Amino acid sequence: MMKQFLTINDLPDLNQAVNQGLELKKDPYKFESVGTHKTLGMLFFNPSLRTRLSTQKAAQHLGVKTMVMNFSNEAWALEFEDGTEMSGLRSEHIREAAAVVSQYCDVVAIRAFASLSDKEKDEQELVLKSFIKYASIPVINMESATAHPLQALADAITIKEFNTKKRPKIVLTWAPHPKALPHAVGNSFSRMVQLLDADFVIAQPKGYELNPEITGNTPCVYDQKEALEGADFVYAKNWCSYSQYGKILRTDKEWMLTQEKMKLTQQAKFMHCLPIRRNIVATDEVLNSPNALVIQQANNRTFAAQVVLKTILENG
Ligand code: CP
Repeated sequence: MMKQFLTINDLPDLNQAVNQGLELKKDPYKFESVGTHKTLGMLFFNPSLRTRLSTQKAAQHLGVKTMVMNFSNEAWALEFEDGTEMSGLRSEHIREAAAVVSQYCDVVAIRAFASLSDKEKDEQELVLKSFIKYASIPVINMESATAHPLQALADAITIKEFNTKKRPKIVLTWAPHPKALPHAVGNSFSRMVQLLDADFVIAQPKGYELNPEITGNTPCVYDQKEALEGADFVYAKNWCSYSQYGKILRTDKEWMLTQEKMKLTQQAKFMHCLPIRRNIVATDEVLNSPNALVIQQANNRTFAAQVVLKTILENG
């Protein structure tokens, strides 16, 4: 029974969750009284467009009220360490903050990205884990240091909607970006596709291999064009180096997704979680093509969040 949603593997059955998402999409208000008199607290330590709005929309569909707070500029700066003399900039301890939020809300959703400066600390998921420890209500991950499971569930729903094959070829390809980005989307997409009946390949330049504990037995190749051959879905995403943690190792455009490269595929659908930097990650032509599913993915974020929120509320 799912009591909280921290990674895509918390779903008891991905396929069932995808089908529930598709059912909710057909009739979003079918369970509009599930959340009567319930409140979802949404705490953001980082910016968001899709996660914030789609999760609020999902809550509206279920009759759940939302409270949204940006910790970067609205709340007191939180102290997470125990035993510190709080004489610095951090005004409130997580012990009180999490306990207080738990009195106002029935579920709390948290976005807290990786610092990308300290791998060990990022992998400890300090913010998310501290709320789990000190809050007395269920926690939903709205993108943490290492995982973005709401995105992965929306991507699974989108793949199901557009797949025409028994066993599609799905390629996750690294793409360029001027800033160091976290691994969360790549990690959760990988974990999600590993649960599907799919031929899954990850392509990345040398030095950009994802955490091997996550990629597991999935083939990870260094030749992007070879990976794209015969693909049915191409998911582009940048992430910084994992082995040289947080570093950008190259700034050239060789791995940018172009229409020429997409011609190597089986008229593949193009996917990206957004936001995307045009003509850096993928060209205008790729993004403007009818094969681009980025807007549909963003739409499915609502139904992914709705499946998760409904399940947690029903599990009490
Ligand atoms: N894809 C995604 O999580 O978008 P936001 O960062 O805008 O929420």
